[in-house]
Amino acid sequence: GKPRQPSDSPLYALLQAAADYYRQALKSHPQRRAAVDYLKGRGLSGEIARDFGLGFAPPGWDNLLKHLAGDSLQHKAMIDAGLLVENPDSGKRYDRFRDRVIFPIHDSRGRVIAFGGRVLGDDKPKYLNSPETPVFHKGQELYGLFEARKHNRNLDEIMVVEGYMDVIALAQQGLRNAVATLGTATSEEHLKRIFRLVPSVLFCFDGDQAGRNAAWRALEAALPNLQDGRRARFLFLPDGEDPDTLVRSEGTDAFRARIQQHAQPLADYFFQQLSEEADPRSLEGKAHLVTLAAPLIDKIPGNTLRALMRQRLTQITGLSVEALNQMSAPAGRPT
Ligand code: UTP
Ligand code: MN
Ligand code: MN
Ligand code: MN
Ligand code: MN
Repeated sequence: GKPRQPSDSPLYALLQAAADYYRQALKSHPQRRAAVDYLKGRGLSGEIARDFGLGFAPPGWDNLLKHLAGDSLQHKAMIDAGLLVENPDSGKRYDRFRDRVIFPIHDSRGRVIAFGGRVLGDDKPKYLNSPETPVFHKGQELYGLFEARKHNRNLDEIMVVEGYMDVIALAQQGLRNAVATLGTATSEEHLKRIFRLVPSVLFCFDGDQAGRNAAWRALEAALPNLQDGRRARFLFLPDGEDPDTLVRSEGTDAFRARIQQHAQPLADYFFQQLSEEADPRSLEGKAHLVTLAAPLIDKIPGNTLRALMRQRLTQITGLSVEALNQMSAPAGRPT
């Protein structure tokens, strides 16, 4: 593939220095109390905070700026790294992250490439993230992947969730295989990366409409990555819950049991969802279902899985396999 990250970028050292500063501030800054209480209030131990390198950006406009000091060239690099913001009118430069809990984002080699910052209260935006930079490409990174792999080199399944706090709360409860897409849709690139490491992915998004939409988009991104031997499954949460709130309220064992009992295989979710859009009780519904399902099934590269999904479609519609074969793309050439 194409090189994505200039491995010699001077931005890495700056980002690491910033991560060190934020982490130290969570330990010793005079105003750290509110941040520490916030994290404790969300059920996190000091140990898990350390594992994820959590930090604190103190209130004020120039804490990091002053800490990293430097000349104008250095400031320019800090802007490129997403650490400083420059006011286009006045030219004034100031810290991007202020008065927030800081979540460092690592690449697969453990280098700090970006940050997320959460407000301690109800201000907006709730989370502020680093912008796209030469070392941070949002649609490709998975928050928590480095930490999950550091904890266990032999993962057999990766759980994909929406948010920073979902990853960390699950880890706190002993479920150390979660990664987050950080407010972007799950992409084929994300799935490629996951399936290079594990044969199984479990999507577990928030129990709300946004979460259900995210699940369908994740399914679409998973299809072209489903070689035979791989699987994707979906765990839908009760309304109003996300993995963080649920694992904390019901505990690790119940959450594991929930996965065991309720994680839905991709094929089941696929046909259930499409049958809601096109009611297979009528002929017209069946025809509609075929037009919706067939092109998606043809994206599956796994010959056996694709054949089984087509067979299931014929079972639901009563269409013969021959008739189905005549009306859609030749098998083995997923588009
Ligand atoms: P959610 O709105 O589900 O937030 O966004 P959350 O993770 O449950 O947040 P908490 O529990 O209130 O702390 C899911 C993810 O979407 C991104 C973040 O990555 C967040 O974790 N997001 C959300 C943003 O980038 N900015 C926002 O303002 C909100
Ligand atoms: Mn949400
Ligand atoms: Mn969301
Ligand atoms: Mn949450
Ligand atoms: Mn959430």
